Amino acid sequence: MAAGWACWIAFINQLLTTLATTNSLRILILGSGGREHAFAWKLAQSKRCAQLFIGPGNAGTSAYGQNVPIDPLDFLAVKKLVLENQIDMVVVGPEEPLVRGIWDYFQAHESLKKIPLIGPSKAGAVLEGSKAWSKQFMLRHKIPTAAYQEFTAETLEAGLAYLKSHALPIVLKADGLAAGKGVVICQSHAEAAAEMREMLDGKFGTASARVVVEEFLTGIEFSVFVLTDGKTYKILPEAKDYKRIGEGDTGPNTGGMGAVSPVPFVDALMWQKVEDRVIRPTVEGLRKEKIPYKGFIFFGFISVGGEPLVIEYNCRMGDPETEVVLPRLKNDLLTLFENCAKGTLGRVKIRTDKRTATTVFLVSGGYPGDYEKGKVITGLDLVKDGIAFNAGTTIKGGQCVTAGGRVIALTSLGKDIPSALRKSNRNANVIQFEGKNFRRDIGKDLMDS
Ligand code: AMP
Ligand code: GLY
Repeated sequence: MAAGWACWIAFINQLLTTLATTNSLRILILGSGGREHAFAWKLAQSKRCAQLFIGPGNAGTSAYGQNVPIDPLDFLAVKKLVLENQIDMVVVGPEEPLVRGIWDYFQAHESLKKIPLIGPSKAGAVLEGSKAWSKQFMLRHKIPTAAYQEFTAETLEAGLAYLKSHALPIVLKADGLAAGKGVVICQSHAEAAAEMREMLDGKFGTASARVVVEEFLTGIEFSVFVLTDGKTYKILPEAKDYKRIGEGDTGPNTGGMGAVSPVPFVDALMWQKVEDRVIRPTVEGLRKEKIPYKGFIFFGFISVGGEPLVIEYNCRMGDPETEVVLPRLKNDLLTLFENCAKGTLGRVKIRTDKRTATTVFLVSGGYPGDYEKGKVITGLDLVKDGIAFNAGTTIKGGQCVTAGGRVIALTSLGKDIPSALRKSNRNANVIQFEGKNFRRDIGKDLMDS
């Protein structure tokens, strides 16, 4: 009798294991920043995540899966990796593979076609890949944004004439991807004219063959993120990032020195405006224009006197925004991605942690200018009450060393900005590497709002 029971139990266990493995996925994350570490951290929490591969990843992502030394822009290498490792889902972190058409590459190959890839088609990624296209899209769909004109080398004289009568300051934007450096805010007409000539003369290569001249907006910035399956969308927690290198928002722009979520001034009325005037028209606009889009849309806003205007679209999540958004997301990220891929996002309800998340980026001395790499990082084991999302880190000779400008994002949760920030800053102090720099004032401008 006992042997009979044992047999049944073994059989049921076997069945459960088989069900669990058939239902679990092998996932490839492309990218190597703090955003990708946050994706890996969150996906690894899913019961149905069988194995993670991160290409190329960083020292932090290797704790959750296997780092694979590949270039996300080398689509053939991605294809080989996906097929050799029986990958079931690909999550694309950065914009460049998307703008270059990795989704379309998957669609064009019979062996890859059925593998869900989280990220838009090339036609959708153009929302980020061409500022001129995104401005035209916003005009077509009556989405509020700054007034603008666009010029090329052929229309340089008209462009220079246009600048002369433009109010100061003047915002010039290279049309294409320019590694975050393509926006220049000019304080004089002479500076704007010189900048326009330089841009059209190839300052950012083909990315500045077309230049958008935009009205300068005065207000406070915030960012909103949605995941869309092309039919519907789910709104994720909003965030504010801190782009300038120096405290008090001074000095040159960086990729982002820290972020906060939620943003206190984004209240119910602001959400309503954002959703009605921008999010819904954007997703509907993409659908009406038959642009395949299963992925993230990042909306960059400036609130001008309480009115949200779009200053940019990105076709991916933000970095360091992801490092504060995902820690506040209670949903299983893998389930969200599966519903996104299947077109069933409408079934999902987003659940959010009400606490505040802050993240503080430790950067290399000299960044965003020249900086040295290979500095030994110590104190990672002393991080408490928070997560150290790695970005520019790698393992060399068994040690964790710096490998980029932005090195580690220290995220903490707290009941409000001061309590979260205290923890992030404490952790920022305990990690050491030569030349370490960070801002201690992340979120301080929001504390009394
Ligand atoms: P982007 O590279 O599009 O993220 O722009 C970089 C930064 O330039 C933004 O975060 C804003 O601070 C600023 N910016 C862009 N467009 C405008 C605008 N129309 N008015 C004022 N500031 C702007
Ligand atoms: N933190 C800004 C971005 O990801 O574009």
